[in-house]
Amino acid sequence: MCGICGYVGGGNGVKEVVQGLKILEYRGYDSCGVAYLDNKKIDIIKTIGDVDNLKKLTENLSANVVIGHTRWATHGSVNEKNAHPHLSTSKNLAMVHNGIIENYKELKEEFKLNCISDTDSEVFLNLIDSEKGTLIDKVIKASKKVQGTFAVLVLGSDGEMVLGKRESPLYLSNVEDEVYIASDVLALKGENYFALNDDEFASVKNGKIIFYNKNGEKITKKCEKIEKNSDFSEIFYKTHMESEIFETKNVLLKTLKKYTEENIFQNIKLPKKLNSISLIACGTAYHASLMGAEFFKKVGVDARAYLASEFRYGNEILKDDTLYIFVSQSGETADTIASAKMVKERNLPMLALTNMENCLLNRICENVLPTFAGREIAVASTKAYTCQVFSLYLFSLYLANIPLPKEEIFDDFPYVTFSEELVKQIAKFKKVFFIGRNLDYVTAMEASLKLKEISYINCFAIASGELKHGTLALIDEDAVVIAICTQENIKTKLLSNLEEIKARGGEIVVVSQFDDFSDYPCVKLPETQTELMPIVSVIPMQFLALHICELFGYNPDKPRNLAKSVTVE
Ligand code: M6R
Repeated sequence: MCGICGYVGGGNGVKEVVQGLKILEYRGYDSCGVAYLDNKKIDIIKTIGDVDNLKKLTENLSANVVIGHTRWATHGSVNEKNAHPHLSTSKNLAMVHNGIIENYKELKEEFKLNCISDTDSEVFLNLIDSEKGTLIDKVIKASKKVQGTFAVLVLGSDGEMVLGKRESPLYLSNVEDEVYIASDVLALKGENYFALNDDEFASVKNGKIIFYNKNGEKITKKCEKIEKNSDFSEIFYKTHMESEIFETKNVLLKTLKKYTEENIFQNIKLPKKLNSISLIACGTAYHASLMGAEFFKKVGVDARAYLASEFRYGNEILKDDTLYIFVSQSGETADTIASAKMVKERNLPMLALTNMENCLLNRICENVLPTFAGREIAVASTKAYTCQVFSLYLFSLYLANIPLPKEEIFDDFPYVTFSEELVKQIAKFKKVFFIGRNLDYVTAMEASLKLKEISYINCFAIASGELKHGTLALIDEDAVVIAICTQENIKTKLLSNLEEIKARGGEIVVVSQFDDFSDYPCVKLPETQTELMPIVSVIPMQFLALHICELFGYNPDKPRNLAKSVTVE
């Protein structure tokens, strides 16, 4: 999603900010731009598409005070007019904004604000400009009138920068008299950083940072250590996605080692009496949560997974003997954050299962179980998913006092994939269905999400037993059904389902370790530890999505319309 970068100092801020935006590229965006100070006048350069375009457009520029943005369109289509930074009507201020101003129409009307673009952000900017006082006064006053979420970075024509946030993250670092600002710690320079909390603000001028609370009073803030530990996956393969799938074994091993050697579970605060577990997440992390719920139930702890976007508006009865686990790779996903805040308000036991040390979700939950998947760049989550599944599995063992497995379980860890021929065949179908039962149904859901996300094929997952309650009507010679079967007890059930599909002309491919499906084209999984099957079986599904995507000539790392961290509702 949108990314913010800023620089104030003696160096070439244009270069610094464009470099920062390049680092934020992985979040997904459709346009980008910078605003810089040129002799007390604010100039703006924006472009649709790549930061590389912006780099070319700005290569001869130099400025000491610069703000920049990558935009992922929410209000208004993708064009230069709607791209950030925006310039205020008076031309005295430029601003970049992440988040959504929900009452922008009302504000525009009430304060008679003239705007050129279709964005909510420009309304916020002109509202700030219409306020009285210093730049920090203006930003604080305007922020009281807006409803919604924001991380804003405002540049004044006198060289001052003011920033503030509500819900969307924003960070600063100070290296001698240079100040870096970014919506992701990864794009900061230096050793330490400051994180703004909600409704906190900062003014940056001449290399000095002053922090303010929402009443405009100066506050002091502690800095934290930047833990970049270069966890960025090195690209050994054509794409980040491929590289990240091939990291699965290493990141699972790392997670197991850390949990074993650092006694991480012992540090988790559990409710006095643990009666049940609720897992709350979005997208792929929700699928990991569904898997987790199965693991917890298996060891006798009642558990349920919720989509965060449903949980936050639903009528769930919150209880103090439930542990609320918020699962998120980024730790920034808007619906997951909002759900966590809801639980926090009630002071209930909560735990963040996240992959990013410096993330918002960890700050909210305080109680954290980290995954050690390293930085995931591809929008389609792969190694982070398998790590989440594995962490939840290990946590379930811990709760049941079962010793954690030994590292040897990874000795012959298999990366199974679909043959090139099968990939080509499947790619020809107009309708793709993934079926399975219980754990395999969850894998089917994840497989379907992965395929639609990067290959744009219309596909969905269905619990095998549900086929004849509706979906079977869609099965004909235009349909291919990919059936996953890793559990002994449901083999025969699946065989009957396959007969029903065959009778309606549907093509069938089976993913299984069992020999019972030899009548069908089969992706053979190895007989491995049962607890690893949800991981071993999802890998071919990740590869299938990747290979179909590549066959169609798309970039798996940056699927259309999607972003890595979904920081807006
Ligand atoms: O950062 P999170 O784990 O909270 O993200 C949740 C989803 O947006 C994410 O898993 C999404 O579904 C993946 N990009 C799918 O591959």
